[in-house]
Amino acid sequence: MASPVKTALGRIAFITGGGQGIGRAIACRLARDGYDISIADIPSQKAKVDDVIKEIEGYGRKAIGVFADVRDAKQIQSAIDQTVEKLGPHLFRVSPGIGNQYDLHAHTMLVPCAENLGPYGATKFAVRGFTEVAAKEWAQYGIRVNAYGPGIVDTPMWDHIDRELAKILGRIQEPEDVAKLVSFMVSDEAEYITGQTIKTCGGASL
Ligand SMILES: NC(=O)c1ccc[n+]([C@@H]2O[C@H](COP(=O)([O-])OP(=O)(O)OC[C@H]3O[C@@H](n4cnc5c(N)ncnc54)[C@H](O)[C@@H]3O)[C@@H](O)[C@H]2O)c1
Repeated sequence: MASPVKTALGRIAFITGGGQGIGRAIACRLARDGYDISIADIPSQKAKVDDVIKEIEGYGRKAIGVFADVRDAKQIQSAIDQTVEKLGPHLFRVSPGIGNQYDLHAHTMLVPCAENLGPYGATKFAVRGFTEVAAKEWAQYGIRVNAYGPGIVDTPMWDHIDRELAKILGRIQEPEDVAKLVSFMVSDEAEYITGQTIKTCGGASL
């Protein structure tokens, strides 16, 4: 049974970093699932965002680009306001990663301790902690909050890394593998799942 909040919100997803990589794959997958999509990215990604919009419109869904730096709360608020204005009155807020009804999904990565990876891993675990607290606080409103944790995914982020290292289960993970998990997490099939960080890593970070 869909929650009253979800029914009121309709099927709109707000996706940060949707211009390329994992965000793009999630945007396109959710469009195919029947969502209208708001893609938030930085202005220098405009050409790529336009390209994603074109693909989504090809699936018969609405898509808009809203430019915002996720480090700036005011820019994010403004991007959400534009989304509400252009895609309908029902979406009130979603952030970082992707959302549906106020599901919160964020990229999390479990990393070994190496130079520069300590702070990276710490910020990902912060997202995980935030996910659990927000899930507790917002359950009373019928709002679920979850995070997805990709292992190594074949995106431009890995252009300078030996891809052989990333081959697990016989191949490198594609952004679409992450999108499949997100498609499930935002669906009614996941209606009793909240406060979780679910990994899609091919067993790399067990
Ligand atoms: N690729 C991987 O193996 C992998 C694994 C685990 C987690 N992650 C995490 O997933 C996220 C996306 O990774 P990806 O591989 O798709 O990266 P990517 O570099 O291919 O895409 C990132 C997107 O985010 C946008 N972006 C960057 N800074 C931004 C900002 N301040 N405000 C708004 N948008 C911004 C970029 O313009 C780009 O479109 C990152 O948080 C990354 O740490 C990636």
